[in-house]
Amino acid sequence: MSEKRKGSTSKSRRGHRPGESVRILIPNARVRQRLKQLAREIRRDFPNEPLHLIGVLKGSVFFLADLARELGGEVSFDFLSVSSYGKGIDSTGEVKLIKDLDVSIEGRSVLVVEDILDTGLTLKYLLRFFEEKKPKHLRVVVLLDKVERRIADVRADYTGFTIPNEFVVGYGLDYDERYRNLPDVCVLQFGSRARVKSE
Ligand code: PRP
Repeated sequence: MSEKRKGSTSKSRRGHRPGESVRILIPNARVRQRLKQLAREIRRDFPNEPLHLIGVLKGSVFFLADLARELGGEVSFDFLSVSSYGKGIDSTGEVKLIKDLDVSIEGRSVLVVEDILDTGLTLKYLLRFFEEKKPKHLRVVVLLDKVERRIADVRADYTGFTIPNEFVVGYGLDYDERYRNLPDVCVLQFGSRARVKSE
């Protein structure tokens, strides 16, 4: 492989379309380093406890996979899927369950794994949903927290990074189902600003 190709971040590799461009916000190496710290924090709080991770599809898949491997000890996982709509300022905050859990969480130490905490409406719904199922412990870990967008009064127990109010993609996060496969957390830019950057 040539030197040029080795360091390539070509358009086809990043997969963006005309009028869109991405810039790295948090490089993958920094994400992985932070995950080690988060895993240590979590294991400090739950040293010998089997942890049941619940990933919220689809954005959390890489985060859960990488965090699970850093956690050590007994770990199991499950996934659920919700759809939220009307996320604008006039949002009703209505959240709908698309895929339920496969196994009961009663009496288990549960760690909800979310890629991003934005308005907090999804997490508010999820916490109520999980609490009704009587877990022994219920904690939340989020990779990214857009604090300034918060509407619901919720917080994560463990947070990877607090980020500004920008449209982020990559490392599981999408725009129209694209960009999830970017290794880094990136900012997606649209329009003429994007065209200049992508040339
Ligand atoms: C994202 C994220 C959270 C939710 C957070 O999911 O995974 O579930 O949005 O937003 P909120 O705090 O404003 O409620 P998204 O709906 O983008 O689905 P995805 O994970 O399948 O991409």
